[in-house]
Amino acid sequence: MTHDALISRLPKCELHVHIEGTLEPELMFALAARNHIRLPYATVAEVRQAYQFSRLQDFLDIYYQGMSVLLHEQDFYDLAWAYLQRAHADNLVHVEMFFDPQGHTSRGVSFDTVVDGLNRACVEAAATFGIKASLIMCFLRHLDEYDAEKTLDAALHHKAKIMGIGLDSSEQGHPPSKFARVFRRARDAGFHLFAHAGEEGPPDYVWQAIDILGVDRIDHGNRSMEDRSLVQRLARDRTPLTLCPLSNLKLRVIDDLARHPLREMMASGLVVTLNSDDPAYFGGYVNDNYRALDTALSLRRDEVIEVARNGFSAAIMTKTDRAEMLTRFDAVVAAISDTEDGNS
Ligand code: HPA
Ligand code: ZN
Repeated sequence: MTHDALISRLPKCELHVHIEGTLEPELMFALAARNHIRLPYATVAEVRQAYQFSRLQDFLDIYYQGMSVLLHEQDFYDLAWAYLQRAHADNLVHVEMFFDPQGHTSRGVSFDTVVDGLNRACVEAAATFGIKASLIMCFLRHLDEYDAEKTLDAALHHKAKIMGIGLDSSEQGHPPSKFARVFRRARDAGFHLFAHAGEEGPPDYVWQAIDILGVDRIDHGNRSMEDRSLVQRLARDRTPLTLCPLSNLKLRVIDDLARHPLREMMASGLVVTLNSDDPAYFGGYVNDNYRALDTALSLRRDEVIEVARNGFSAAIMTKTDRAEMLTRFDAVVAAISDTEDGNS
């Protein structure tokens, strides 16, 4: 049996979502009209038709093009607010969202415009929905370290609004070691650290992310499974992986959800979490990702619960918040066990 009601009702975290990847075609058209920007598509259907990828770079080309409609503080606010409403509908209580400032500053949009708009939505989500939302600024790894250094300089003026630093974009040929110095400086400034690694890149990039950059979590990390000693290291340190199954399927990191390595990862002692990555492009938000894997792998009820619970262990939050949220989580689990869903 599947666990649709359980998945909906569990309070959950999202730790791997690119806010620019939540730009639904409808909002893209609305912002294009508001900002007098011509899109290379005539209709929403045409946009969705273009979302066919055979690897990460195919997606990134379209993703950077989609960002062109984001110009003003209100645009960034509207983007994040739309996502946070969706997050609330999925029963997310804690979200950590990536943003790509270099995708905007390179187009002449100021860093302040981006951060202020996103931050305003995060603050409002706390007041309106009780969602704890924070921002992780990513460096685009296809650009050089000097560009990342300038971006870090800008972030230091907004320290209170940015929780951490991440690394994304084209992985192959751009190892974490390329950003050793700027990550060191970010660490010294007190930011939490994250990096995409082992999505398309080799296990060695995951080693570099933990040993050279010193990250708190690995984003994706699928290819870690090719290296037994790496898996042991990640398990020993309880370094979480933020998995994104529908993204993996769309970008052909895996060819079939039924062969997703979630179970092997859990059996190896890895702390794995489920996330949406770029939901507007990959066809699903957090609950959709849970449901897709639940169906494809015939997950047991306790496996669904364990993965959702892992989100709280892997999240960046105070000890007090974690204890409170886990108490609430366990209470919801106990309440659901008496109902029709999730008895298997
Ligand atoms: N991988 C790398 N860079 C990205 C991704 C991803 O899945 N999504 C947005 N930027
Ligand atoms: Zn990602």
